[in-house]
Amino acid sequence: MSDLMSKIKDKLDQAGIKYELIKLPEDISMDIDVHMKFHGKNISQAMPNMVLKTEKGFVVAQRRGDSQIDNKKLKKLLGVQRLALANEDDLKKFGLLPGIVPPLGYEIPIYMDEKVLENTEIYTGTGDRLFALKLNPQDLLKVSKAKTGDFTKLEDKQLGGRVLSGIRATGKLHLGNYLGAVKGFLELQKNPDYSTFYMVVDLHTLTTPYDKNALKESVRHIILDYLACGLDPTKSTIFIQSMVPEHVELAYLFSTVVSVARMQHLPTFKEKVKQHPEDVTMALLNYPVLMSADILVYKAGLVPVGIDQEPHLEVAREIARKINEKYGLDFPEPERFATAGEYVPSLMGEGKMSKSIEGSYINLTDNLETIKSKLAKAPTDAGKGSKIPTEGGVASLLTLVELFQGSDLRKEYEKQYISDGIRYQKLKDDLAQAIYKELQPIQEKRKELEQNPKYVDQVIKEGAEKARKVASETLQEVKKAMGLS
Ligand code: TRP
Repeated sequence: MSDLMSKIKDKLDQAGIKYELIKLPEDISMDIDVHMKFHGKNISQAMPNMVLKTEKGFVVAQRRGDSQIDNKKLKKLLGVQRLALANEDDLKKFGLLPGIVPPLGYEIPIYMDEKVLENTEIYTGTGDRLFALKLNPQDLLKVSKAKTGDFTKLEDKQLGGRVLSGIRATGKLHLGNYLGAVKGFLELQKNPDYSTFYMVVDLHTLTTPYDKNALKESVRHIILDYLACGLDPTKSTIFIQSMVPEHVELAYLFSTVVSVARMQHLPTFKEKVKQHPEDVTMALLNYPVLMSADILVYKAGLVPVGIDQEPHLEVAREIARKINEKYGLDFPEPERFATAGEYVPSLMGEGKMSKSIEGSYINLTDNLETIKSKLAKAPTDAGKGSKIPTEGGVASLLTLVELFQGSDLRKEYEKQYISDGIRYQKLKDDLAQAIYKELQPIQEKRKELEQNPKYVDQVIKEGAEKARKVASETLQEVKKAMGLS
């Protein structure tokens, strides 16, 4: 237990206040949402404590997790002109660490937002990374002697809003991209409450070794696949990332609030370092910051991507929070939009369907013969047993059956597995037919588009123009707030 935490404990005990200390898992992230999920509570029951710097000295602001500091109101309440988030060195002077500031136990004036007092219990910090404190905010006030006031606004969680997503340019799309991402793109495009932006992510393609002679072709393949799948330029803004330079400029500005250590510790970064130990570049380290800029330059609140991208979305939310707090901006904290097929397993039975694993994927442009021969290579077993496999080739086949032929057929196969046995030849043939049936119209549409390069060029050009309109507005706003011209 940290010194600070035992001091707080003593104070609460002396005052005879009821409270609870909750042990947190060793590897828990600093993210408030993650903490509240761990407690099984809503974000509105969190109380972050923020140390702020003003020209008159430091103050601590306590807000409810679902609200944001309203800079104007707080400046007025404190009678100050300047308000900024204290940095790590500032915190050190008070024996505090970033992200785990407790609600009392230091010589800094405290201000609690009135909304906190609407709760009968709140979860807050202890100054020790591994413990949370739960108590009644009215009780806390008695010991902390905080002043109260109204200085926050509720985040506008309006319906809909903007959606952004993208797929990296590494050749044609495969079934994993289609089920895990594009189907979600289509669902949101259909919904008039959303304004949708879908891009081909070519700058991120440069973060690992790539073939410069193939890049243009790869990007175009994905645009064609997007259009063939039903992305509609009259409903969505369809564009290429590198044609909207605002993303890169915003990423640089965002990088000023991101620590190197935070990026180095991301599991996605570590994995890439393992795969390409000779190519650990600044671009790779910066990957999540550019992705955050991709999303936030459109102030998108919803991102249809696979579950593997969750760590990057967490970074985007952290950046949004920091930039909002530091510069008084209003970025949303983007959430992931999940689709039913968000995890499409590899045909080889290990890991997910991926471009980089030979034999693991089916391309959207594969014909029936190719699909059949790829499925034929998926490893199987005797077709019979007491337990239905949950991993390996058979599990992958069953997942694909469910995604393309429905859960009833999957159940039927499972029954066969524990009784008479499955005949894989037939299962694979039927599955190949079902997959092809879904892909055939996409392939026909794609052929048409290939005959019409002028139209595709126009979609790309107009998409970039539409995207830049929105992106440049956000960039101007951020530059101004950060004191640039
Ligand atoms: N990192 C994403 C992936 O590999 C691609 C990506 C880059 C992205 N920028 C994005 C996805 C913005 C959604 C939103 O799948």
